[in-house]
Amino acid sequence: MTIHIDADRLRSDFDELAAIGGTAEGGVERLALSPAHLEARRWFLRRAAAAGLGTSIDAAGNHSAILRSASPDARTFLLGSHLDSVPNGGRFDGALGVVAALEVLRTVKEHRLDLPVTLEAIDFTDEEGTLVGLLGSLAVAGVLDAEALAAPRGGRDALLAGLASAGLKEARLGEARRDPRTLAGYLELHIEQGPVLERARVEIGVVRAIVGSRSLELVFEGASAHAGTTPMAARRDAGLGAARFVDRVHDAVTSGFPGAVATVGHVELEPGAFNVVPGSARVLLEFRAGSAAELDRLEQRLLHEARAVATAQRLDLRVQAVGRWEPSPLDASARAAITAAAASLGLSSIELPSGAGHDAQALAQVTRAGMVFVPSVGGVSHQPGELTHWQDCVNGANALLHSTVRLALEAPT
Ligand code: GLV
Ligand code: MN
Ligand code: MN
Repeated sequence: MTIHIDADRLRSDFDELAAIGGTAEGGVERLALSPAHLEARRWFLRRAAAAGLGTSIDAAGNHSAILRSASPDARTFLLGSHLDSVPNGGRFDGALGVVAALEVLRTVKEHRLDLPVTLEAIDFTDEEGTLVGLLGSLAVAGVLDAEALAAPRGGRDALLAGLASAGLKEARLGEARRDPRTLAGYLELHIEQGPVLERARVEIGVVRAIVGSRSLELVFEGASAHAGTTPMAARRDAGLGAARFVDRVHDAVTSGFPGAVATVGHVELEPGAFNVVPGSARVLLEFRAGSAAELDRLEQRLLHEARAVATAQRLDLRVQAVGRWEPSPLDASARAAITAAAASLGLSSIELPSGAGHDAQALAQVTRAGMVFVPSVGGVSHQPGELTHWQDCVNGANALLHSTVRLALEAPT
């Protein structure tokens, strides 16, 4: 008999969770370590405790539900994702993976499956990078570096405020590290967030590799001036510099880097008034590619464009690196287990790369890591319209259950 997760219970959890930080547009906003995020995490531990599972919170604030193996020396098999969201985000990104992980533990417990591993469903801190990016999973992998904390994407003030509100200490984040010898593997269910599975009419995606990404903060400095009296030719307009740069970023990537993407997601002009020529422009740039060499080439090209704009507009330019995540191939045995699990459930599957970042890329540095993708309607994500049909969510949770069992039984001992 093939065992299945309890689809009604998964649905009820998913809906309860989506109400925490729920927005009028039908999405969620649970920025890392914000009150809504912390409430979601408390909800997760309550659901775990209600199911008779152990619970824990580590030094990086990662929240876990635990189903212990009978064997005291058993390694831990992690199943996870994240409960934080981007600003004005969707209900599925991260959340589906966490509730499905919890559901897998409950299903294994109820069916009294005797696995040679301890199972842990883990909600990682700050996957989305409103503070640092992959903070909790990098800490677990033991690769959260001081540089990332010193120059975080969201700025130091936001990081310190977030840690304080969660009762976390920056100096102790590293204590969340797990000895890789204690880990048996990691699996993550996630929505695809792109159009590939839907277009191919395939039910399950098996992630081959996750792209690398880098974030830069650029500040163009000119001179603020009277918008009525300063002749056009006399201006040092930082806003114009930012606008020209956005345009050049798009052209550089589309003309020379077919496998890559780059985004200016935020521009702030100072002082910011109708009648003042902007004296400074702060530009948040992110770019992604499949290999470190491509990321290096792209970074050089984008910095070249920024310098060229600054020279042409007589602006000064400051650049600060605020995030760097390496490309990560995922484990061949995990991929094989997911493919076999999908087949055993009668679900179609294909391998594909992930253009989105995930906690799995941190875990891949220390253990066998794999990812199960399910289709995203219209490929839409990071906005309130994000949707995955419920049957696909259920399929994904069942594929997660069965690939976990397969991989756990092959666990290194
Ligand atoms: C996370 O969702 C990312 O790829 O930015
Ligand atoms: Mn995610
Ligand atoms: Mn996301």
